[in-house]
Amino acid sequence: MTMQIFTGDVERFCGQQASIRSSTILGSGVAVRSPTTVERWLIVGAGGFGREVYSWTLGQLHAAGTNPCVGFLDDDATVLDRFPELKRLWVGRISDYEPQSGDRLLMAIGDPSAKLAVAEQLTARGGRFVSYIHPTAVLASDVQVGVGVIICPSVVICCNVRLGDFVLMNVGALAGHDSMIGDGCTLSPHADVTGQVVLERGVFLGCRAVILPKIHVGEFSRVGAGSVVISQVKSRVTMMGVPAKRIDWLQKDDDEQLQAG
Ligand SMILES: CC(C)(COP(=O)(O)OP(=O)(O)OC[C@H]1O[C@@H](n2cnc3c(N)ncnc32)[C@H](O)[C@@H]1OP(=O)(O)O)[C@@H](O)C(=O)NCCC(=O)NCCS
Repeated sequence: MTMQIFTGDVERFCGQQASIRSSTILGSGVAVRSPTTVERWLIVGAGGFGREVYSWTLGQLHAAGTNPCVGFLDDDATVLDRFPELKRLWVGRISDYEPQSGDRLLMAIGDPSAKLAVAEQLTARGGRFVSYIHPTAVLASDVQVGVGVIICPSVVICCNVRLGDFVLMNVGALAGHDSMIGDGCTLSPHADVTGQVVLERGVFLGCRAVILPKIHVGEFSRVGAGSVVISQVKSRVTMMGVPAKRIDWLQKDDDEQLQAG
């Protein structure tokens, strides 16, 4: 399987049309404009997910015959200590990063709030994010993909779906037709967003969470692993269970403190 690295609009993806705003790396069968040479790929976040992004992209980058320089940015200098073969790839802290021409950043942070904060920080400093689509992902012809998006193996994205910036769709996640996935959302493995769903900015879906059709999930809300959401979800709440119920730990703590006071 070959990979191409490029800047510009995607004209075809696996025989279909796709609209992708950022520089993107894709699987074979992609016709692109303005090929460019990338000097350094930096994976932002060197935790478990960062190492997964590394493993998926590295083989593909090597297959392109570019012999690229690949590294990790992470504020924890010890994060790769248990992985001697990767340790040398830690190039510095996110907070210290100064962009160099030819750098391309891949966002590999799962937590939506942390991810959006880092994205804002690095973009303001001139960092340039690209999006990544694994060759086994299937995208409908009219899907729109933002900047800094990661689409993992076996993801399926149906027609008329819009993905905002810095969306992560982890392994096997599904976005059904006419859905809108806001900036910074994270869909964990096998999360299932059915049709005409809206996830506002910063929503987190745990593994195998299901959102039924036409549900609107408010910004920065979380849905627990294996939960099934059947009703509208407000902002900044946590939903769990089948059917999912709102769990208000923060509210409860606040109420208890008020009563104690
Ligand atoms: C929704 C979630 C983020 C909430 O996290 P949290 O605020 O730290 O809450 P906790 O995990 O401490 O759980 C609090 C309570 O909910 C229960 N609970 C946790 N997850 C649950 C779930 N998916 N369904 C039902 N109950 C759940 C816990 O047992 C605990 O109950 P207790 O208070 O009676 O002991 C988390 O529970 C979750 O599901 N995370 C998804 C993880 C995942 O899929 N990661 C993907 C990695 S690739």
